[in-house]
Amino acid sequence: MADAVGKTAEDCGVVIQDDWPGYSLDLFSYPAHYSGDLDCVYIPHGVIMDRTERLARNIMDDLGDSAIVVLCVLKGGYQFSADLVEGIKALSRNSARTIPMRVHFIRLKSYQNDQSTEDLQIVGAEDLSFLFGKNVLIVEAIVDTGKTMKMLLKHVETFRPKMIKVAGLLVKRVPHSVACLPDYIGFEIPNRFVVGYALDYNEYFRDLDHICVISESGKRKYKI
Ligand code: IMP
Repeated sequence: MADAVGKTAEDCGVVIQDDWPGYSLDLFSYPAHYSGDLDCVYIPHGVIMDRTERLARNIMDDLGDSAIVVLCVLKGGYQFSADLVEGIKALSRNSARTIPMRVHFIRLKSYQNDQSTEDLQIVGAEDLSFLFGKNVLIVEAIVDTGKTMKMLLKHVETFRPKMIKVAGLLVKRVPHSVACLPDYIGFEIPNRFVVGYALDYNEYFRDLDHICVISESGKRKYKI
């Protein structure tokens, strides 16, 4: 993880500006069971895939030939992890450099409705001592305030891996971020609550391919 000072354009990922209205829902296909629940398509699935392909290449350029343990942060990170791992596998198949990978999962919970709770939990915390001396790539779908990532990094560091890198598909521009930025960033987005591509609102919308902005009526419908 890096701090926010001295960032280059490549470090920030694709920057989506505050005034980006997203695409009209009528321009894309999405499941009919979510009609009325979304405001717009914020990042279409194809763009996510294209950006992920490039992140896989950046990871290959930096880490090619070293074995890594991919630590996928569930639940939101499962789709990004799967696609990123696919991208790295494709590069490993087609070039002289390869990255031998192990994939492991860790489940965190910190959100209810669209609010972060103070109560960050590692669900079913297990012994990660096999990380000792390994190169670890943590893969997370979204970094908001950065509190979750900070806690996870502290936890992973206790197992004394050789190296830790973080890939985050989305990083939000928020006023009170703890200024820990992933090493590999897909998109920097405004401070809006987004769903889809495995990101949820109270467990809904994981079955949506595009990253979308939830509507106010969607929030009311799935509120707990
Ligand atoms: P942080 O600790 O504030 O950085 O929050 C990170 C976690 O909050 C992520 O792992 C997600 O589970 C959740 N989260 C934050 N923003 C969003 C969002 O816009 N959509 C869905 N989940 C989010």
